[in-house]
Amino acid sequence: MGKKVTVVGAGFYGSTTAQRLAEYDVFDTVVITDIVEGKPAGLALDLNQSRAIEGFETKVVGVTTGPNGEGYEAIEGSDVVVITAGLPRKPGMSRMDLLETNAKIVRQVSENVAKYAPSAVVIVVSNPLDEMTALAQLANQFPKNRVLGQAGMLDTARFTNFVAEALQVPVKSVKTLTLGSHGDTMVPVPSKSSVNGRPLREVMPAEQIEELVVKTRNGGAEVVALLKTGSAYYAPSAAAARMTKAVAEDSGEVMPVCAWVDGEFGISGVYLGVEAEIGAEGIKKVVETDLDADELASLKEAAEAVRAKQADVANM
Ligand code: NAI
Ligand code: 2OP
Repeated sequence: MGKKVTVVGAGFYGSTTAQRLAEYDVFDTVVITDIVEGKPAGLALDLNQSRAIEGFETKVVGVTTGPNGEGYEAIEGSDVVVITAGLPRKPGMSRMDLLETNAKIVRQVSENVAKYAPSAVVIVVSNPLDEMTALAQLANQFPKNRVLGQAGMLDTARFTNFVAEALQVPVKSVKTLTLGSHGDTMVPVPSKSSVNGRPLREVMPAEQIEELVVKTRNGGAEVVALLKTGSAYYAPSAAAARMTKAVAEDSGEVMPVCAWVDGEFGISGVYLGVEAEIGAEGIKKVVETDLDADELASLKEAAEAVRAKQADVANM
């Protein structure tokens, strides 16, 4: 049987993710849902009308859902569910300012996903990311490997882009990595970064690397400050869509994602940004990337910062 994916939330992140997934042309069906009457159906109509031009057969279905699970039958049989429901930041807001509002939304969505798509892999993108991923798992009670979050792919892509721009080299020749949280304790990993195979530290002075690390950490806020009405969605949706494809194709690709860490790096019992093999069961395996002592210390610091917050969401 062909693959089915659901995107919950038909805002900027959800609609661009649905578009990318449909254009891959590897799914039978992309379902997009929202609580706003008519919006998902309108987007689905529009996306389906692009099929003849873009040349894809995937069918997009748009459904409005209600607070008591009305409409959720449409997600039955989904292999993957991407949760984008929730408010984005406005200028001056931190991701953490979204905690209480988005916790209510993500909990309610996750309970309905558990009921109607109990075998799905769930990819969370709602912010604050690490906390919402932990909450989604608490609410749906899926095995922890089947709930993961998107942040590291995006932060890494931003770091890569900044390095490529600074050195005026093709993006393709740059490899970078960020781990840790999607927030203040993001951990860029220069020791695993390279340009045309040469260590980043050999081709860029330490102060410039640090500048780009800071720029990466503020990457989301920089976009919010310019857009004024919401947050980024082109790069974020590219990241979530690639993760979704890796699950659907059981590719085993190694990607930086927010995953449950259970002993790796000497860290246990927390959702954290790490590299992991992605496949049909979600996280196949957390990869214990070889880190410098200071990078490992930063990762442990990030783990403790998000652990405290993740404990808070259990009661939200
Ligand atoms: P948006 O405001 O354009 O869309 C959010 C949508 O969620 C709205 O259409 C709203 O009606 C819908 N919604 C609210 N409650 C719902 C429910 N119970 N069920 C279904 N839909 C519901 O916001 P945007 O730009 O799409 O961002 C969505 C989320 O993604 C935000 O929390 C944002 O902070 C986060 N984000 C995360 C990133 C990451 O790297 N993890 C990057 C960019 C954004
Ligand atoms: C971003 O990093 C706001 O989390 C969102 O763009």
